[in-house]
Amino acid sequence: MPAPAPPSPVIRVSHLTKRFGAQVVVDDLSFEVAAGETLVLLGPSGCGKTTLLKTLNRLIEPDGGTIEINGRDVRQQAPEALRRGIGYVIQQVGLLPHYTVAQNVGVVPGLLGRPAAETAARTAALLERLHLPAARFADMLPAQLSGGQQQRVGLARALAADPPVILLDEPFGALDPITRAAVRRDFRELDELRRKTVVLVTHDVTEAFELADRIMLLNNGRIQQLGAPRELLEHPANDFVRSFFQAERLALQMRVTTLAEVLPFVESTGPGGPAPAPAGAPALPATASVQAAVALLGETGTGHLRIEGAPQPLALGQLLAAFGRALGQAGAGGG
Ligand SMILES: Nc1ncnc2c1ncn2[C@@H]1O[C@H](COP(=O)(O)OP(=O)(O)OP(=O)(O)O)[C@@H](O)[C@H]1O
Ligand SMILES: [Mg+2]
Repeated sequence: MPAPAPPSPVIRVSHLTKRFGAQVVVDDLSFEVAAGETLVLLGPSGCGKTTLLKTLNRLIEPDGGTIEINGRDVRQQAPEALRRGIGYVIQQVGLLPHYTVAQNVGVVPGLLGRPAAETAARTAALLERLHLPAARFADMLPAQLSGGQQQRVGLARALAADPPVILLDEPFGALDPITRAAVRRDFRELDELRRKTVVLVTHDVTEAFELADRIMLLNNGRIQQLGAPRELLEHPANDFVRSFFQAERLALQMRVTTLAEVLPFVESTGPGGPAPAPAGAPALPATASVQAAVALLGETGTGHLRIEGAPQPLALGQLLAAFGRALGQAGAGGG
């Protein structure tokens, strides 16, 4: 059977360049984003992430290069019309302070002339899914919300008109780590986002690994590497890429390594074999990550984990030792 044709890109950027004065902020970038893909723009502060994102919906006009969205050059479209077709969350959330939560979420559907009843229903449904029940939150003003709640409203607003393309600039920025993880989980679990083409900016490597199909790592306006998270981690294109992930290498490696990869390296513990696992030890499929297994063991407080398809339950120590051996093996193999 012939391989299915790859989906045509929704976003196609070629030789994009943007200068501010003498500084080249976006330097001859070319890339594509496929339908339904989540591309994460990652890089240090000031490397050009926001500038690049804003050229995609013409909040910033580039000095050179072209951008096509769904096969159309964005310059052929009026900026306002273009922007109504693209969801956008700016770096500082940017809710309209004198509009209620529901009015903020309904801005773009209103501009598009959607029926008010339809917009109200969709707004309520979105707020509900983001854990902001409309009965309580719809009529509140942004200033009455916490930072995390405001960011959820920002997400709901970007999704309200059901645009096929969404641009998100640090949508979880300025949140404490616990709220950040919770908002991110809501985000990941939103079915609507799975169908959308998403470009998301962050400088948080864990966030990038959690959300990205592919990561574009930028420095000084240039692509250092563009690929699957695992490629960047295990096959860095240069020293910048290598050092960017260095501090969190082990944690990231746990995220990209599956239990199936680790199982061949499990050794039984001593002559008596492994201690019997308590009844009700939690189970995970072998396709789950080592990170998911460690997290589950931590959450449930049980010492053992059953891996579907594996003969014996594993203790945390066995799992980590096997993970270490698998890593050593990969390193010894020259990877
Ligand atoms: N309007 C502007 N005028 C002049 N320089 C600008 C302007 N906007 C951005 N810059 C410069 O362009 C560079 C890239 O800025 P940009 O906002 O794209 O960075 P970023 O990667 O989003 O950073 P951060 O992670 O801090 O948000 C910075 O050096 C910034 O000072
Ligand atoms: Mg920025």
